[in-house]
Amino acid sequence: MIGFAERLPFLGAQLFFEEPRANSSEEPCPDTYLVELTPKLEEGTNAPTRIKDPGYKGTAHSTPEYIMESVVSPSTYVVKGFPDNLMPKVFGQKLSAGALKKIVDYLSQVKAGAPPPKIS
Ligand code: HEM
Repeated sequence: MIGFAERLPFLGAQLFFEEPRANSSEEPCPDTYLVELTPKLEEGTNAPTRIKDPGYKGTAHSTPEYIMESVVSPSTYVVKGFPDNLMPKVFGQKLSAGALKKIVDYLSQVKAGAPPPKIS
C-alpha cells in the first residue's frame, strides 16, 4: 500500500521545482524514478538505527530529532547506498514550522512492514 511517506519525495520535488508535475495515468510520471533514488522513509524503524551507527556524527537523540536534522541538513548523515547532495537542502526554509512538525510526527510513526499511519 502506498502511503504518504512514499509520496513525500515527489511532493518535495514539486516544492523544490515550484511547479506541479504532470501525473496522468496514460503517461508514466518521470518522478516515479525517485522511488529508486530515495530511501524508504520508515523512520519509526530506521531513525533509531541511524543514530546508533558508529558513523553517525549528527546531534539527534530521538527519532523526531533525527528526521528534523535529515530535512534541514540532509548531508549530516547520508544513508548508505544513496547519493549525497541529491536531496535538496531547501526544505527547512521552504516548509512552514507547522508543516515540518506534521511531517516529522508522521514519519516518526512509519514502520517497516506495517500499514501506513493515519494522517491526522
Ligand atoms: C519534503 C520532502 C522530503 C522529506 C521530508 C525528506 C526526508 C528525508 C529523510 C527523513 C531522510 C533520511 C532517511 C533515513 O535515514 O532513513 C532522507 C534521505 C534522503 N532523501 Fe529525502 N526527503 C524529502 C525530499 C527528497 C527529495 C525531493 C529527494 C530527491 C530529489 C530526496 C532524496 C533523498 C536521498 C537521496 C536521501 C538519502 C541520502 C541522505 O541521507 O541524504 N529527498 N530524506
